[in-house]
Amino acid sequence: MIKDKELILVVDDEKNTRESLCKILIQEGYSVLQAKKEDDAIEIVKNNPVDLLITDLCLPGHDGLHLFRQIKKEYPSIQVILMTAYGTVESAVEAMKEGVSDYLTKPVNIDEMLILINKILQGQKLLEENKYLREKFKSEQHLDKIIWKCSQMQNIYNLIQQVAPARSTVLIYGESGTGKELIANALHYSGSRKDRPLIKVSCAAIPEMLLESELFGHEKGSFTGAIERRKGLFELAHTGTIFLDEIGEMSLGLQSKLLRILEEREFQRVGGNISIKVDVRVISATNKDLPQLIKEGKFREDLFYRLNVVKIFLPPLRERKEDLPILVDFFIDELSKETNRHIKGVSPEVMQIFNIHNWPGNIRELKNCLESAIVRTSKNILDASTLPSYLRQENNISNFDLKEEKLISLDEIEKKTIIHTLNLVEGNKTKAAGILGIGLKTLYRKLKKYGMEM
Ligand SMILES: Nc1ncnc2c1ncn2[C@@H]1O[C@H](COP(=O)(O)OP(=O)(O)OP(=O)(O)O)[C@@H](O)[C@H]1O
Ligand SMILES: [Mg+2]
Repeated sequence: MIKDKELILVVDDEKNTRESLCKILIQEGYSVLQAKKEDDAIEIVKNNPVDLLITDLCLPGHDGLHLFRQIKKEYPSIQVILMTAYGTVESAVEAMKEGVSDYLTKPVNIDEMLILINKILQGQKLLEENKYLREKFKSEQHLDKIIWKCSQMQNIYNLIQQVAPARSTVLIYGESGTGKELIANALHYSGSRKDRPLIKVSCAAIPEMLLESELFGHEKGSFTGAIERRKGLFELAHTGTIFLDEIGEMSLGLQSKLLRILEEREFQRVGGNISIKVDVRVISATNKDLPQLIKEGKFREDLFYRLNVVKIFLPPLRERKEDLPILVDFFIDELSKETNRHIKGVSPEVMQIFNIHNWPGNIRELKNCLESAIVRTSKNILDASTLPSYLRQENNISNFDLKEEKLISLDEIEKKTIIHTLNLVEGNKTKAAGILGIGLKTLYRKLKKYGMEM
Protein backbone atom coordinates (compact mmCIF):
# COMPACT_ATOMS: atom_id res chain seq x y z
CA MET A 1 0.00 0.00 0.00
CA ILE A 2 1.26 3.48 -0.77
CA LYS A 3 0.57 6.24 1.66
CA ASP A 4 0.51 9.74 0.30
CA LYS A 5 -2.66 11.00 1.97
CA GLU A 6 -4.11 10.75 5.46
CA LEU A 7 -5.43 7.35 6.41
CA ILE A 8 -8.70 7.08 8.33
CA LEU A 9 -10.07 3.89 9.88
CA VAL A 10 -13.86 3.72 10.33
CA VAL A 11 -15.16 1.21 12.90
CA ASP A 12 -18.88 0.51 13.10
CA ASP A 13 -20.82 -2.74 13.13
CA GLU A 14 -23.72 -1.18 11.23
CA LYS A 15 -22.80 -1.89 7.63
CA ASN A 16 -24.81 0.94 6.08
CA THR A 17 -23.44 3.69 8.32
CA ARG A 18 -19.90 2.37 7.99
CA GLU A 19 -19.97 2.09 4.23
CA SER A 20 -21.63 5.40 3.58
CA LEU A 21 -19.10 7.18 5.83
CA CYS A 22 -16.23 5.46 4.04
CA LYS A 23 -17.62 6.49 0.66
CA ILE A 24 -17.84 10.13 1.66
CA LEU A 25 -14.33 10.13 3.12
CA ILE A 26 -12.89 8.59 -0.03
CA GLN A 27 -14.67 11.24 -2.10
CA GLU A 28 -13.04 13.85 0.14
CA GLY A 29 -9.63 12.49 -0.81
CA TYR A 30 -8.72 10.47 2.27
CA SER A 31 -7.42 6.90 2.29
CA VAL A 32 -9.96 4.82 4.19
CA LEU A 33 -10.06 1.40 5.83
CA GLN A 34 -12.98 -0.14 7.73
CA ALA A 35 -13.65 -2.64 10.51
CA LYS A 36 -16.70 -4.09 12.24
CA LYS A 37 -15.26 -4.67 15.70
CA GLU A 38 -12.33 -4.06 18.01
CA ASP A 39 -10.15 -7.06 17.09
CA ASP A 40 -10.32 -6.29 13.39
CA ALA A 41 -9.63 -2.61 14.05
CA ILE A 42 -6.53 -3.39 16.13
CA GLU A 43 -5.23 -5.75 13.46
CA ILE A 44 -5.60 -2.98 10.86
CA VAL A 45 -3.86 -0.39 13.03
CA LYS A 46 -0.96 -2.81 13.55
CA ASN A 47 -0.41 -3.14 9.84
CA ASN A 48 -1.26 0.30 8.49
CA PRO A 49 -0.13 3.84 9.23
CA VAL A 50 -3.54 5.03 10.48
CA ASP A 51 -3.74 8.73 11.30
CA LEU A 52 -7.32 8.92 12.55
CA LEU A 53 -9.78 6.41 13.95
CA ILE A 54 -13.52 7.07 13.85
CA THR A 55 -15.35 4.52 15.94
CA ASP A 56 -18.86 3.94 17.10
CA LEU A 57 -19.10 3.91 20.88
CA CYS A 58 -21.43 0.97 20.75
CA LEU A 59 -19.72 -2.10 19.23
CA PRO A 60 -20.30 -5.82 19.65
CA GLY A 61 -18.03 -7.22 22.37
CA HIS A 62 -15.76 -4.45 23.64
CA ASP A 63 -17.14 -0.96 23.13
CA GLY A 64 -15.53 1.96 21.30
CA LEU A 65 -14.12 3.39 24.51
CA HIS A 66 -12.28 0.15 25.17
CA LEU A 67 -10.92 0.24 21.63
CA PHE A 68 -9.83 3.85 22.13
CA ARG A 69 -7.93 2.91 25.31
CA GLN A 70 -6.18 0.00 23.59
CA ILE A 71 -5.13 2.19 20.68
CA LYS A 72 -4.00 5.09 22.87
CA LYS A 73 -1.79 2.78 24.90
CA GLU A 74 0.00 1.37 21.88
CA TYR A 75 -0.24 4.15 19.31
CA PRO A 76 -0.55 7.47 21.13
CA SER A 77 -0.20 9.52 17.96
CA ILE A 78 -3.40 8.17 16.39
CA GLN A 79 -6.33 10.56 16.84
CA VAL A 80 -9.73 9.14 17.78
CA ILE A 81 -13.27 10.41 17.18
CA LEU A 82 -16.16 8.62 18.91
CA MET A 83 -19.59 8.35 17.32
CA THR A 84 -22.37 8.16 19.81
CA ALA A 85 -26.12 7.88 19.90
CA TYR A 86 -28.16 10.50 21.71
CA GLY A 87 -28.33 8.62 25.02
CA THR A 88 -24.57 8.11 25.42
CA VAL A 89 -23.24 11.61 24.84
CA GLU A 90 -22.16 11.86 28.45
CA SER A 91 -19.74 8.96 28.23
CA ALA A 92 -18.28 10.46 25.07
CA VAL A 93 -17.71 13.75 26.87
CA GLU A 94 -16.04 11.82 29.70
CA ALA A 95 -13.85 10.03 27.15
CA MET A 96 -12.53 13.39 25.92
CA LYS A 97 -10.91 13.81 29.33
CA GLU A 98 -8.94 10.65 28.59
CA GLY A 99 -7.73 11.95 25.25
CA VAL A 100 -10.44 11.23 22.69
CA SER A 101 -10.10 14.08 20.19
CA ASP A 102 -13.84 14.70 19.82
CA TYR A 103 -17.20 13.03 19.36
CA LEU A 104 -20.01 13.08 16.83
CA THR A 105 -23.65 12.32 17.57
CA LYS A 106 -25.53 9.92 15.38
CA PRO A 107 -26.98 10.31 12.86
CA VAL A 108 -23.77 11.95 11.79
CA ASN A 109 -23.96 15.37 10.21
CA ILE A 110 -21.55 15.01 7.30
CA ASP A 111 -20.44 18.64 7.11
CA GLU A 112 -19.80 18.71 10.81
CA MET A 113 -17.79 15.50 10.53
CA LEU A 114 -15.62 16.76 7.67
CA ILE A 115 -14.84 20.02 9.44
CA LEU A 116 -13.93 18.10 12.58
CA ILE A 117 -11.67 15.64 10.74
CA ASN A 118 -9.92 18.44 8.95
CA LYS A 119 -9.41 20.31 12.20
CA ILE A 120 -8.00 17.29 13.99
CA LEU A 121 -5.66 16.20 11.21
CA GLN A 122 -4.43 19.73 10.62
CA GLY A 123 -3.89 20.17 14.36
CA GLN A 124 -1.84 16.99 14.45
CA LYS A 125 0.25 18.17 11.52
CA LEU A 126 0.77 21.53 13.15
CA LEU A 127 1.98 19.90 16.34
CA GLU A 128 4.54 17.90 14.42
CA GLU A 129 5.68 20.86 12.40
CA ASN A 130 5.63 23.27 15.25
CA LYS A 131 8.86 22.00 16.67
CA TYR A 132 10.59 22.53 13.36
CA LEU A 133 9.02 25.90 12.76
CA ARG A 134 10.23 27.12 16.12
CA GLU A 135 13.67 25.92 15.17
CA LYS A 136 13.27 27.76 11.89
CA PHE A 137 12.44 31.09 13.50
CA LYS A 138 15.32 30.70 15.89
CA SER A 139 17.90 30.14 13.22
CA GLU A 140 16.30 31.89 10.30
CA GLN A 141 19.10 32.68 7.94
CA HIS A 142 18.37 34.02 4.54
CA LEU A 143 20.38 35.18 1.63
CA ASP A 144 21.20 38.50 3.27
CA LYS A 145 23.08 36.67 6.02
CA ILE A 146 25.67 35.55 3.51
CA ILE A 147 28.47 38.08 3.43
CA TRP A 148 31.06 38.16 0.67
CA LYS A 149 33.03 40.27 -1.74
CA CYS A 150 35.03 37.80 -3.82
CA SER A 151 33.93 36.64 -7.24
CA GLN A 152 33.75 32.94 -6.26
CA MET A 153 31.10 33.79 -3.67
CA GLN A 154 29.28 36.07 -6.10
CA ASN A 155 28.92 33.09 -8.44
CA ILE A 156 27.65 30.94 -5.58
CA TYR A 157 25.16 33.62 -4.60
CA ASN A 158 23.86 33.78 -8.17
CA LEU A 159 23.57 30.01 -8.28
CA ILE A 160 21.61 29.92 -5.02
CA GLN A 161 19.14 32.45 -6.35
CA GLN A 162 18.78 30.40 -9.49
CA VAL A 163 18.25 26.99 -7.91
CA ALA A 164 16.48 27.90 -4.64
CA PRO A 165 12.99 28.03 -6.18
CA ALA A 166 13.42 24.63 -7.84
CA ARG A 167 13.27 21.24 -6.23
CA SER A 168 16.72 20.27 -7.49
CA THR A 169 19.00 18.26 -5.28
CA VAL A 170 22.05 20.19 -4.11
CA LEU A 171 25.39 18.98 -2.81
CA ILE A 172 27.43 21.52 -0.88
CA TYR A 173 31.11 20.84 -0.56
CA GLY A 174 33.37 22.84 1.74
CA GLU A 175 35.88 22.58 4.56
CA SER A 176 34.69 22.86 8.11
CA GLY A 177 33.34 26.30 8.95
CA THR A 178 33.04 27.56 5.35
CA GLY A 179 29.29 28.11 5.64
CA LYS A 180 27.69 24.91 4.34
CA GLU A 181 24.78 25.06 6.74
CA LEU A 182 24.32 28.76 6.08
CA ILE A 183 24.01 28.02 2.35
CA ALA A 184 21.56 25.17 3.01
CA ASN A 185 19.41 27.57 5.06
CA ALA A 186 19.53 30.17 2.31
CA LEU A 187 18.51 27.59 -0.31
CA HIS A 188 15.53 26.49 1.73
CA TYR A 189 14.33 29.82 3.07
CA SER A 190 14.61 31.67 -0.21
CA GLY A 191 12.82 28.94 -2.12
CA SER A 192 9.19 28.00 -2.58
CA ARG A 193 9.35 25.57 0.36
CA LYS A 194 10.26 28.23 2.89
CA ASP A 195 7.06 27.80 4.89
CA ARG A 196 7.50 24.06 5.03
CA PRO A 197 9.87 22.28 7.40
CA LEU A 198 13.64 22.29 6.93
CA ILE A 199 14.88 19.24 8.72
CA LYS A 200 18.56 18.91 9.49
CA VAL A 201 20.34 15.73 10.31
CA SER A 202 24.01 15.08 10.85
CA CYS A 203 24.93 11.70 9.43
CA ALA A 204 28.11 11.65 11.52
CA ALA A 205 26.55 12.33 14.90
CA ILE A 206 24.13 9.39 15.00
CA PRO A 207 25.06 5.67 15.09
CA GLU A 208 24.03 3.78 11.93
CA MET A 209 21.13 1.80 13.39
CA LEU A 210 19.62 4.88 15.00
CA LEU A 211 20.18 6.99 11.91
CA GLU A 212 18.13 4.59 9.84
CA SER A 213 15.14 4.81 12.16
CA GLU A 214 15.66 8.58 12.55
CA LEU A 215 15.49 9.03 8.80
CA PHE A 216 12.86 6.50 7.86
CA GLY A 217 10.92 5.98 11.10
CA HIS A 218 10.07 2.60 12.56
CA GLU A 219 7.22 0.31 13.38
CA LYS A 220 6.50 -0.60 16.95
CA GLY A 221 8.65 -3.56 18.08
CA SER A 222 10.91 -3.45 15.00
CA PHE A 223 13.93 -3.39 17.34
CA THR A 224 14.55 -3.29 21.07
CA GLY A 225 13.50 0.12 22.26
CA ALA A 226 11.01 0.73 19.45
CA ILE A 227 8.16 0.97 21.92
CA GLU A 228 5.89 2.79 19.57
CA ARG A 229 5.52 3.50 15.87
CA ARG A 230 7.45 6.61 14.94
CA LYS A 231 7.57 8.78 11.88
CA GLY A 232 10.99 9.38 10.37
CA LEU A 233 12.53 12.69 9.39
CA PHE A 234 11.80 12.10 5.70
CA GLU A 235 8.10 11.87 6.53
CA LEU A 236 8.26 14.98 8.68
CA ALA A 237 10.07 16.83 5.91
CA HIS A 238 7.25 16.02 3.44
CA THR A 239 6.83 18.99 1.05
CA GLY A 240 9.85 20.61 2.69
CA THR A 241 13.59 20.04 2.67
CA ILE A 242 15.92 17.63 4.39
CA PHE A 243 19.52 18.70 4.99
CA LEU A 244 21.81 15.69 5.23
CA ASP A 245 24.97 17.04 6.78
CA GLU A 246 28.23 15.10 6.59
CA ILE A 247 26.81 12.75 3.99
CA GLY A 248 30.28 11.25 3.47
CA GLU A 249 29.86 9.51 6.84
CA MET A 250 26.74 7.59 5.84
CA SER A 251 27.10 3.80 5.77
CA LEU A 252 26.80 1.95 2.46
CA GLY A 253 23.61 0.23 3.65
CA LEU A 254 21.86 3.51 4.32
CA GLN A 255 23.23 4.94 1.10
CA SER A 256 21.20 2.35 -0.84
CA LYS A 257 18.03 3.29 1.03
CA LEU A 258 18.68 6.94 0.37
CA LEU A 259 19.22 6.20 -3.29
CA ARG A 260 15.81 4.55 -3.42
CA ILE A 261 14.13 7.62 -1.95
CA LEU A 262 15.83 9.83 -4.48
CA GLU A 263 14.89 7.60 -7.37
CA GLU A 264 11.41 6.49 -6.42
CA ARG A 265 10.43 9.12 -3.84
CA GLU A 266 9.19 6.41 -1.53
CA PHE A 267 10.53 4.32 1.33
CA GLN A 268 9.50 1.99 4.11
CA ARG A 269 9.79 2.44 7.83
CA VAL A 270 12.21 0.16 9.71
CA GLY A 271 10.31 -3.08 10.32
CA GLY A 272 7.46 -1.95 8.08
CA ASN A 273 6.19 -3.08 4.72
CA ILE A 274 4.14 -0.08 3.72
CA SER A 275 5.66 2.17 1.08
CA ILE A 276 5.37 5.79 2.07
CA LYS A 277 5.51 8.42 -0.63
CA VAL A 278 7.21 11.69 0.11
CA ASP A 279 8.00 14.89 -1.69
CA VAL A 280 11.22 16.09 -0.10
CA ARG A 281 14.00 18.25 -1.42
CA VAL A 282 17.39 16.86 -0.50
CA ILE A 283 20.33 19.12 0.24
CA SER A 284 23.47 17.40 1.41
CA ALA A 285 26.84 18.64 2.57
CA THR A 286 30.27 17.20 3.10
CA ASN A 287 33.85 18.16 3.76
CA LYS A 288 35.00 14.82 2.36
CA ASP A 289 36.33 14.15 -1.11
CA LEU A 290 33.43 11.99 -2.32
CA PRO A 291 35.05 10.93 -5.62
CA GLN A 292 37.96 9.66 -3.54
CA LEU A 293 35.55 7.79 -1.21
CA ILE A 294 33.98 6.24 -4.32
CA LYS A 295 37.41 4.98 -5.40
CA GLU A 296 37.90 3.49 -1.95
CA GLY A 297 34.52 1.74 -2.18
CA LYS A 298 33.09 3.76 0.70
CA PHE A 299 30.58 5.80 -1.24
CA ARG A 300 28.13 4.69 -3.93
CA GLU A 301 28.83 6.28 -7.26
CA ASP A 302 25.16 6.18 -8.32
CA LEU A 303 24.17 8.01 -5.13
CA PHE A 304 26.88 10.59 -5.71
CA TYR A 305 25.44 11.46 -9.13
CA ARG A 306 21.94 11.69 -7.65
CA LEU A 307 23.09 14.07 -4.92
CA ASN A 308 25.45 16.06 -7.07
CA VAL A 309 22.83 17.47 -9.44
CA VAL A 310 23.71 21.02 -8.43
CA LYS A 311 27.14 21.32 -6.85
CA ILE A 312 28.19 24.22 -4.67
CA PHE A 313 31.85 24.38 -3.79
CA LEU A 314 32.56 26.76 -0.92
CA PRO A 315 36.11 28.10 -1.08
CA PRO A 316 38.13 28.12 2.15
CA LEU A 317 38.67 31.50 3.78
CA ARG A 318 42.41 31.46 3.03
CA GLU A 319 41.49 31.59 -0.66
CA ARG A 320 39.17 34.55 -0.27
CA LYS A 321 41.04 36.81 2.09
CA GLU A 322 39.62 39.84 0.30
CA ASP A 323 36.40 38.94 2.15
CA LEU A 324 38.09 39.40 5.53
CA PRO A 325 37.35 43.12 6.10
CA ILE A 326 33.66 42.82 5.24
CA LEU A 327 33.28 39.65 7.33
CA VAL A 328 35.06 41.28 10.26
CA ASP A 329 32.71 44.29 10.05
CA PHE A 330 29.68 42.03 9.81
CA PHE A 331 30.60 39.88 12.80
CA ILE A 332 31.65 42.84 14.93
CA ASP A 333 28.34 44.48 14.21
CA GLU A 334 26.39 41.30 14.95
CA LEU A 335 28.35 40.43 18.08
CA SER A 336 28.24 44.00 19.40
CA LYS A 337 24.47 43.94 19.19
CA GLU A 338 24.30 40.55 20.88
CA THR A 339 26.57 41.61 23.72
CA ASN A 340 25.25 45.16 23.95
CA ARG A 341 28.65 46.71 23.26
CA HIS A 342 29.77 49.46 20.92
CA ILE A 343 32.79 47.94 19.25
CA LYS A 344 33.89 50.00 16.25
CA GLY A 345 36.35 47.65 14.60
CA VAL A 346 39.78 46.08 14.76
CA SER A 347 43.21 47.71 14.84
CA PRO A 348 45.38 47.64 11.66
CA GLU A 349 47.69 45.20 13.43
CA VAL A 350 44.80 42.78 13.98
CA MET A 351 43.85 43.06 10.33
CA GLN A 352 47.43 42.27 9.41
CA ILE A 353 47.43 39.19 11.65
CA PHE A 354 44.17 38.08 10.07
CA ASN A 355 45.67 38.51 6.63
CA ILE A 356 48.61 36.28 7.42
CA HIS A 357 46.68 33.57 9.22
CA ASN A 358 45.74 30.46 7.31
CA TRP A 359 42.24 30.04 8.86
CA PRO A 360 41.98 26.23 9.01
CA GLY A 361 38.64 26.65 10.83
CA ASN A 362 37.49 29.14 8.19
CA ILE A 363 34.68 31.58 8.91
CA ARG A 364 33.65 29.88 12.14
CA GLU A 365 37.20 30.35 13.43
CA LEU A 366 37.09 34.05 12.51
CA LYS A 367 33.75 34.49 14.24
CA ASN A 368 34.91 32.67 17.38
CA CYS A 369 38.08 34.67 17.44
CA LEU A 370 36.19 38.00 17.30
CA GLU A 371 33.72 36.77 19.87
CA SER A 372 36.43 35.97 22.37
CA ALA A 373 38.22 39.26 21.60
CA ILE A 374 35.06 41.23 22.36
CA VAL A 375 34.70 39.49 25.69
CA ARG A 376 38.32 40.21 26.58
CA THR A 377 38.36 43.91 25.83
CA SER A 378 36.87 46.95 27.48
CA LYS A 379 37.92 49.23 24.59
CA ASN A 380 35.92 49.90 21.46
CA ILE A 381 38.67 48.89 19.04
CA LEU A 382 39.93 45.31 19.19
CA ASP A 383 43.72 45.30 19.34
CA ALA A 384 46.17 42.42 19.02
CA SER A 385 46.31 41.82 22.76
CA THR A 386 42.69 40.65 22.70
CA LEU A 387 43.36 37.91 20.16
CA PRO A 388 43.70 34.25 21.15
CA SER A 389 47.34 33.44 21.95
CA TYR A 390 47.83 31.08 18.99
CA LEU A 391 47.12 33.98 16.64
CA ARG A 392 49.28 36.45 18.51
CA GLN A 393 52.18 34.03 18.54
CA GLU A 394 51.98 33.42 14.85
CA ASN A 395 52.78 37.03 14.18
CA ASN A 396 55.02 37.65 17.12
CA ILE A 397 58.74 38.33 16.90
CA SER A 398 59.06 36.96 20.44
CA ASN A 399 58.42 33.66 18.74
CA PHE A 400 62.02 33.85 17.60
CA ASP A 401 63.32 33.25 21.06
CA LEU A 402 64.90 36.51 22.05
CA LYS A 403 66.08 35.32 25.42
CA GLU A 404 69.34 36.93 26.52
CA GLU A 405 71.47 33.83 26.18
CA LYS A 406 70.48 33.59 22.51
CA LEU A 407 71.03 37.09 21.26
CA ILE A 408 70.67 37.41 17.52
CA SER A 409 71.36 40.15 15.04
CA LEU A 410 68.76 42.39 13.36
CA ASP A 411 69.61 40.68 10.08
CA GLU A 412 68.79 37.36 11.67
CA ILE A 413 65.42 38.69 12.89
CA GLU A 414 64.69 40.11 9.46
CA LYS A 415 65.54 36.81 7.80
CA LYS A 416 63.34 34.85 10.20
CA THR A 417 60.49 37.30 9.77
CA ILE A 418 60.66 36.96 5.98
CA ILE A 419 60.71 33.15 6.16
CA HIS A 420 57.84 33.15 8.63
CA THR A 421 55.71 35.46 6.51
CA LEU A 422 56.40 33.58 3.30
CA ASN A 423 55.40 30.34 5.01
CA LEU A 424 52.14 31.82 6.14
CA VAL A 425 51.19 33.11 2.71
CA GLU A 426 52.27 29.87 1.09
CA GLY A 427 55.18 31.53 -0.76
CA ASN A 428 53.15 34.33 -2.36
CA LYS A 429 55.80 37.07 -2.55
CA THR A 430 53.46 39.90 -3.46
CA LYS A 431 51.35 39.16 -0.41
CA ALA A 432 54.42 38.73 1.78
CA ALA A 433 55.86 42.06 0.64
CA GLY A 434 52.53 43.76 1.36
CA ILE A 435 52.41 42.33 4.87
CA LEU A 436 56.05 43.18 5.58
CA GLY A 437 55.46 46.72 4.38
CA ILE A 438 58.18 46.65 1.70
CA GLY A 439 58.14 46.69 -2.07
CA LEU A 440 58.36 43.51 -4.09
CA LYS A 441 61.78 44.53 -5.45
CA THR A 442 63.07 45.07 -1.90
CA LEU A 443 61.81 41.64 -0.92
CA TYR A 444 63.69 40.05 -3.82
CA ARG A 445 66.82 41.96 -2.84
CA LYS A 446 66.58 40.74 0.73
CA LEU A 447 65.94 37.17 -0.36
CA LYS A 448 69.12 37.39 -2.44
CA LYS A 449 71.01 38.87 0.46
CA TYR A 450 70.03 36.01 2.75
CA GLY A 451 70.66 33.37 0.12
CA MET A 452 66.98 32.53 -0.18
CA GLU A 453 66.38 33.21 -3.86
CA MET A 454 63.47 31.07 -4.97
N1 LIG B 1 29.64 34.00 3.96
C1 LIG B 1 29.29 34.08 5.26
N2 LIG B 1 28.79 35.22 5.74
C2 LIG B 1 28.46 35.34 7.04
N3 LIG B 1 28.57 34.37 7.94
C3 LIG B 1 29.07 33.20 7.51
C4 LIG B 1 29.44 32.99 6.16
N4 LIG B 1 29.86 31.73 6.03
C5 LIG B 1 29.77 31.18 7.25
N5 LIG B 1 29.29 32.04 8.15
C6 LIG B 1 29.08 31.80 9.59
O1 LIG B 1 30.14 30.96 10.03
C7 LIG B 1 29.69 29.97 10.93
C8 LIG B 1 29.98 28.60 10.37
O2 LIG B 1 29.15 28.35 9.25
P1 LIG B 1 28.42 26.95 9.01
O3 LIG B 1 28.00 26.35 10.29
O4 LIG B 1 27.41 27.16 7.95
O5 LIG B 1 29.68 26.14 8.42
P2 LIG B 1 29.79 24.60 8.00
O6 LIG B 1 30.48 24.59 6.69
O7 LIG B 1 28.46 23.97 8.08
O8 LIG B 1 30.77 24.03 9.10
P3 LIG B 1 30.97 22.50 9.60
O9 LIG B 1 31.55 21.74 8.46
O10 LIG B 1 31.94 22.63 10.71
O11 LIG B 1 29.62 22.03 10.02
C9 LIG B 1 28.21 30.24 11.14
O12 LIG B 1 28.06 31.05 12.27
C10 LIG B 1 27.82 31.00 9.89
O13 LIG B 1 26.70 31.81 10.11
MG1 LIG C 1 27.85 22.38 9.35
